[in-house]
Amino acid sequence: MKVPFVDLNAQYQSIKKEIDGAIFDVINKAQFIRGPYVDKFEKEFASAMKVKHCISCANGTDALYISMHCLGVKSGDEVITTAHSWISTSETITQTGAKVIFCDTKDDTFNINPSLIESKINSKTKGIIAVHLYGQPADMDAIQAIASKHNLWVIEDSAQAHFATYKGKNVGTIGKLGTFSFYPGKNLGAMGDAGCIVTNDDELAELMKLYARHGGKGDHTIEGINSRMDGIQAAILSVKLPHLKNWIKERQRVARRYTELLKEVGDLILPEVGSNRDHVWHLYVIRTHHRDNLRTYLKEADIATVLNYPIALPFLKAYNYLNHNPSDFPVAYANQGRILSLPIFPELKDEQIVYVTDKIKEYFSINQHSL
Ligand SMILES: Cc1ncc(COP(=O)(O)O)c(C=O)c1O
Repeated sequence: MKVPFVDLNAQYQSIKKEIDGAIFDVINKAQFIRGPYVDKFEKEFASAMKVKHCISCANGTDALYISMHCLGVKSGDEVITTAHSWISTSETITQTGAKVIFCDTKDDTFNINPSLIESKINSKTKGIIAVHLYGQPADMDAIQAIASKHNLWVIEDSAQAHFATYKGKNVGTIGKLGTFSFYPGKNLGAMGDAGCIVTNDDELAELMKLYARHGGKGDHTIEGINSRMDGIQAAILSVKLPHLKNWIKERQRVARRYTELLKEVGDLILPEVGSNRDHVWHLYVIRTHHRDNLRTYLKEADIATVLNYPIALPFLKAYNYLNHNPSDFPVAYANQGRILSLPIFPELKDEQIVYVTDKIKEYFSINQHSL
């Protein structure tokens, strides 16, 4: 049996008529960049998130850069973020001219460890970027408490966590602002690049809108950048948005089944969910000391897996200049060699889940001697 890591075509087939209609509508009306479809999606997403403003942009990386630029981050500043994320979270700090200050993660949730943040704060620190990694909210109460004590802002990088909640609040709406990616493989994915920023801050929202769109339309009051959402992507996202809650339920079903079926198998550590939060399972990540051999075994059985991410941010070549050692981030360092993301998407069938878990059990029963 073949088990892909994700199956974007399966989702397309389930809503094909609506998607095709939406795309042709945009083409017929020639509303390719920004315009009414983008305005409509911005309103719908803000309303679904229960937040005042949604500012669309070209992708989730731009959303982070635009946010920090408009918060005034510049050369000489420092921004604290997690050691375990996709590089967009840290490369955009560098793009503003500021210095990236990495912080290690919690062993149970893969998210930034709030108890390590305070020791990294100094007079140059401007803010904290919390990432809701794999779809699980970070410890927002503790992060917000540190930020307000030191007069810092918090950006929630919610690229992997649309509609995840912390104490009943949507992630992205708890800190100063939240950034989202609509990359096709995300829980809410476009059919190309797209992203947005959400905030309740009126003044900041106006500035971010202006900055993302060349600083005006002929009447440029500031220099900006070109980071716009396409009409086709917005129309596609409007079709998909009403389905998202249901797709999240399906992801939660898959995660529950993996957890049931993989209990006490080999040396596996299964993902945990912290208290007071709702995990939306963008990724289901197991840990094992046999990661590479298990991955090869699953590949031979036609099961696709992914490493998110094989090298923690501080140990990437791109950050050699920071001279970090494994002992600076022991949790992120230990996890980079053990993590394995299993296939997860709403349309994953129970028989496929059982096939994946049977193959994992088979691997550990054959290799029992080396455990
Ligand atoms: C945690 C995180 N932040 C930011 C991004 C950037 O999003 P995009 O690919 O839309 O630029 C991603 C996307 O992979 C991500 O996973």
